[in-house]
Amino acid sequence: MTRSHVVFDVGLYRRLAEELVRDGDVVVEVGAAAGDTTVRLAERAGLVIAFEKSREMFEILRERVEGLDNVVALNEDGFEIGEVLRRTEDVDVVFIDVGGGAQPRLPLALWEAYFRVFEPREIVVRNRRLCRLLGTVEFVEEV
Ligand SMILES: C[S@@+](CC[C@H](N)C(=O)[O-])C[C@H]1O[C@@H](n2cnc3c(N)ncnc32)[C@H](O)[C@@H]1O
Repeated sequence: MTRSHVVFDVGLYRRLAEELVRDGDVVVEVGAAAGDTTVRLAERAGLVIAFEKSREMFEILRERVEGLDNVVALNEDGFEIGEVLRRTEDVDVVFIDVGGGAQPRLPLALWEAYFRVFEPREIVVRNRRLCRLLGTVEFVEEV
């Protein structure tokens, strides 16, 4: 059973990276940027697969995680789930931050893609508009 967490504050997002990962977990991070969350995920994870699609940010990320042998940094789009499947069949935790102000359809589509393929234990999404929507939810029909 997957537990989802939706946040906007980047400090909270990074704190969840420290709190939700268990020893040996396989973690996927989409939108790793300069690696501030990546290094936190790597503290306990057995493997972190970190996607960063911007070439400039990826170069910073690569230097940041150079000494961490449990981090695979990829200069790819996070929708390239085949890159994950080539390395592992199981994913325990997924962190998605393609920008806190991004159109919600992007993190939603990423949430669905990773949920359908891996059913991870935890999925964390950073997006302001999804926070707004979910903050108003009164009733959810079980489907
Ligand atoms: C707000 S930053 C992430 C910050 C990061 N969570 C942290 O704690 O420092 C968002 C990053 O997502 C990247 N990004 C956006 N869409 C992406 C995608 N589809 N796949 C991979 N990276 C993506 C952007 O290039 C940007 O560097």
